Amino acid sequence: MSSTKVIYRINKQENEVELEPSVTLLDGALIHRLDPPYSCLEGVCSRCEAKVESGEVQVISGYEIEGHPRRIKTCQTFPKSSSVTINYDLD
Ligand code: FES
Repeated sequence: MSSTKVIYRINKQENEVELEPSVTLLDGALIHRLDPPYSCLEGVCSRCEAKVESGEVQVISGYEIEGHPRRIKTCQTFPKSSSVTINYDLD
């Protein structure tokens, strides 16, 4: 699959980047120096949680957030569709 266009909403700013589908959404934000929240990188702390506003993603099995199908741990999630929008500014 070719790269995915990912729009990140972080700290009230919006940035559009291209990601390879093998790169997690958190790693993509870190690579592009977007200053995403994170800590463990292992799917444990939930600091990297964000909302999928559009597009499709692939969550590694076992790391889904129960009861919140559009909420993801971005360190355990890959972009799947050609375009994805991720919002870290949860309230
Ligand atoms: S960085 Fe801890 S769950 Fe993603």
